[in-house]
Amino acid sequence: MKITQNGFYWFLWSLSSSASIGVLGFMMVYEQNSTLFLPGMTTNGHYQIEIKCSACHTPFMGVKPDACMSCHEEELKRANDSHPKSKFTDPRNADRVALLDARNCITCHEEHVEDRTHSMGVTLPTNYCYYCHQDIGQVRPSHRDLPYNSCATSGCHNFHDNTALYEDFLLDHANSPDLKSPAAIPALKTDLTSASHPAALTRADANAPSGMKFDSIVYQEWETTAHAYAGVNCMDCHSAEASGGSKTWTEIPSNEACARCHSFEHQSFLEGRHGMRLAQGLPPMRPAIARLPMKPESAQKVLNCNACHSAHAYDTRRAAVDACLQCHNDDHSLNYLNQDSPHYNLWKTALTSDGDLTQGVSCATCHMPRTEYKENGQNQIRIIHNQNDNLRPNEKMVRGVCLYCHGLQFTLDSLADEKLIQANFNHPPESHVQSIEWGKKQNDEITATKERKRN
Ligand code: HEC
Ligand code: HEC
Ligand code: HEC
Ligand code: HEC
Ligand code: HEC
Ligand code: HEC
Ligand code: HEC
Ligand code: HEC
Ligand code: HEC
Ligand code: HEC
Repeated sequence: MKITQNGFYWFLWSLSSSASIGVLGFMMVYEQNSTLFLPGMTTNGHYQIEIKCSACHTPFMGVKPDACMSCHEEELKRANDSHPKSKFTDPRNADRVALLDARNCITCHEEHVEDRTHSMGVTLPTNYCYYCHQDIGQVRPSHRDLPYNSCATSGCHNFHDNTALYEDFLLDHANSPDLKSPAAIPALKTDLTSASHPAALTRADANAPSGMKFDSIVYQEWETTAHAYAGVNCMDCHSAEASGGSKTWTEIPSNEACARCHSFEHQSFLEGRHGMRLAQGLPPMRPAIARLPMKPESAQKVLNCNACHSAHAYDTRRAAVDACLQCHNDDHSLNYLNQDSPHYNLWKTALTSDGDLTQGVSCATCHMPRTEYKENGQNQIRIIHNQNDNLRPNEKMVRGVCLYCHGLQFTLDSLADEKLIQANFNHPPESHVQSIEWGKKQNDEITATKERKRN
């Protein structure tokens, strides 16, 4: 009797699990209600697209071998990844790989395992550098008594991105002053307020279909901003085809309309947490489904190009602070507006009629930095529209943002000070990162040894 019962349960279990695998496969193919099959909470980086199981999984489970790199390859390449897969497929490192298989992203970045997940989707205990660098205390006297969970703390090392932390870079910037003045942020064409507009269009040139009635505010906003100045007419945005093509009126232009002329901005927008759902063909992100604190009144706003740029009045000054604060509601964001915020005060000065926008620090200065980009063989200054591009680990902000105005020691100290970030940089840093001192010491010792050998 007992055996039969067990057998029966076993039968039921196997039936239900094979059925659920079948259903799961089916669900994953059709992506309907597939989140029911999630084994646990998805990481902050991916929850927005979790419904799209197939972005990572093959239909019957398993993670696709190239899933991670299909989206992250470019980013890790730019980060000059100091532990790329190629380091671990090298047979000389086989003994280390036997301890920790770093050829595989999932060794360190599992999914749907909330209780084991740290910042940046890392699912490994924080002292894992130990597996491969047990000899560091002998090689570097400065590291002798350091605990292994301190290697990857702010301002010391990262596993992937050390573009602002490698030794030569530290030494090159060892004696930079806390504040460089004036700032050296590159200017945009549109920063130049005195620019003339020879091709500027006026109301009389507007090519919206005749007979349509519009509020005159539409004309007014268009006529006094960049698009009319640059000769961009109604139908360039309001038709499904590129300019010169079909002239059918589309009431609400899509992001793709903007992408025809602004492909760099559009592409980078799709790569971050504002645009990543659109990149997967999902409905756009809304504050209502966010994990970060958002202003309640913004809940149903839609994250597309016009979340920050209004339909016809293109004022990037408004987009750089006011737009962000329509939605964001965390302490760091709110503290930016405090009276004692030096960056906000610089921004207010920059906004005055004779101010220079490259001397101000807005939310966008840090989170949407300007970068040089080659287009049609010419170097252009473009705005990175992926707010995550330099966000974590935060040393990514060093080279492309802070160093335009501050020295390296001051910057590393500031970015290591979590309270200071919360306060949005309203006082000097209280942390002290020792990397530069240790780098200098090591360098001095090497020079001294060489000297001794020579004598
Ligand atoms: C951003 C990538 C990503 C997305 C999207 C994603 N997963 Fe996963 N999932 C993973 C990773 C990585 C693992 C860990 C795999 C491992 O440990 O071998 C995993 C593990 C799992 C597991 C456990 C499998 C096991 O072998 O233990 C299940 C079940 C699962 N996912 C279901 C889903 C379902 C259902 C969806 C869609 C609703 C989904 N996942 C969406 C990346 C993803
Ligand atoms: C469909 C594209 C896509 C796939 C597939 C994908 N990711 Fe991501 N991932 C993103 C986006 C978009 C973000 C959010 C923006 C960001 O943080 O760069 C993100 C965020 C992350 C983060 C968090 C960064 C942070 O600051 O919190 C990590 C780590 C990560 N991904 C690793 C992986 C790994 C490992 C895999 C494979 C299992 C994977 N990703 C698969 C698109 C993808
Ligand atoms: C040995 C562990 C380990 C492996 C293997 C690993 N990562 Fe990471 N990853 C980390 C750690 C730790 C961080 C946190 C930041 C840091 O220390 O660099 C991180 C951060 C990230 C980030 C955030 C952005 C950044 O530049 O740091 C992304 C994206 C990412 N990993 C993707 C991947 C992908 C894709 C793979 C596979 C090719 C992979 N990781 C393999 C440990 C690992
Ligand atoms: C799975 C093994 C493995 C793990 C885990 C690992 N490393 Fe490495 N690391 C290597 C290998 C291999 C090299 C190449 C140089 C060598 O052979 O020592 C390297 C090189 C380095 C370098 C030299 C810089 C460079 O660009 O070549 C630094 C710094 C470093 N690792 C720091 C870390 C830190 C910090 C951690 C933990 C966050 C870590 N490593 C985790 C294997 C590993
Ligand atoms: C740079 C692209 C662009 C140009 C040029 C443009 N529009 Fe628009 N317009 C938009 C977008 C985007 C929306 C949708 C805003 C939204 O989501 O509500 C819009 C909405 C509208 C609407 C409907 C909603 C409203 O605001 O009243 C009208 C009418 C309109 N535009 C008329 C015009 C006319 C007339 C012109 C030429 C004088 C013009 N537009 C030029 C992008 C443009
Ligand atoms: C037919 C081409 C075209 C289309 C379509 C177009 N733009 Fe533009 N846009 C331009 C040109 C040209 C400029 C002038 C600056 C320049 O030369 O880069 C410009 C300038 C801008 C600026 C800078 C304004 C300033 O004052 O600094 C923003 C923001 C902008 N566009 C956003 C958009 C958005 C959002 C859409 C879609 C609703 C869009 N554009 C559609 C061609 C276009
Ligand atoms: C999160 C807010 C936000 C969103 C969403 C956004 N932008 Fe922007 N955009 C800005 C800010 C802020 C600037 C100006 C940054 C600066 O001046 O340094 C800017 C600048 C631009 C410029 C460059 C202007 C110039 O003078 O060179 C273009 C073009 C542009 N955006 C197009 C787009 C397009 C196309 C989309 C949708 C794919 C989009 N933006 C979505 C905030 C946003
Ligand atoms: C329409 C609302 C809206 C506007 C406007 C907006 N954001 Fe966001 N932002 C969001 C949402 C929603 C997320 C995703 C939050 C989440 O996934 O929990 C996000 C994510 C981010 C992130 C990534 C946070 C992280 O932890 O990965 C940064 C940084 C950010 N926004 C900065 C800005 C800046 C700077 C501006 C203005 C230039 C801005 N945002 C404008 C709604 C908005
Ligand atoms: C001087 C540069 C700077 C300025 C100005 C700035 N931020 Fe940040 N922001 C940072 C840094 C650094 C981080 C922390 C990244 C990390 O370590 O995770 C951050 C984090 C964030 C996050 C992620 C918070 C989280 O908990 O994940 C959001 C959202 C954000 N900032 C929005 C804004 C907005 C909105 C403004 C303007 C009102 C703004 N920031 C002004 C540098 C800046
Ligand atoms: C466009 C130039 C510019 C950029 C970019 C910039 N800052 Fe600043 N920052 C300043 C100026 C100017 C001050 C005011 C200094 C003063 O009053 O002594 C300041 C003040 C500060 C302060 C407060 C210092 C004090 O004495 O109260 C901190 C902390 C800080 N910045 C950190 C950063 C970090 C970190 C970054 C990069 C994420 C950054 N800043 C980017 C120009 C800039």
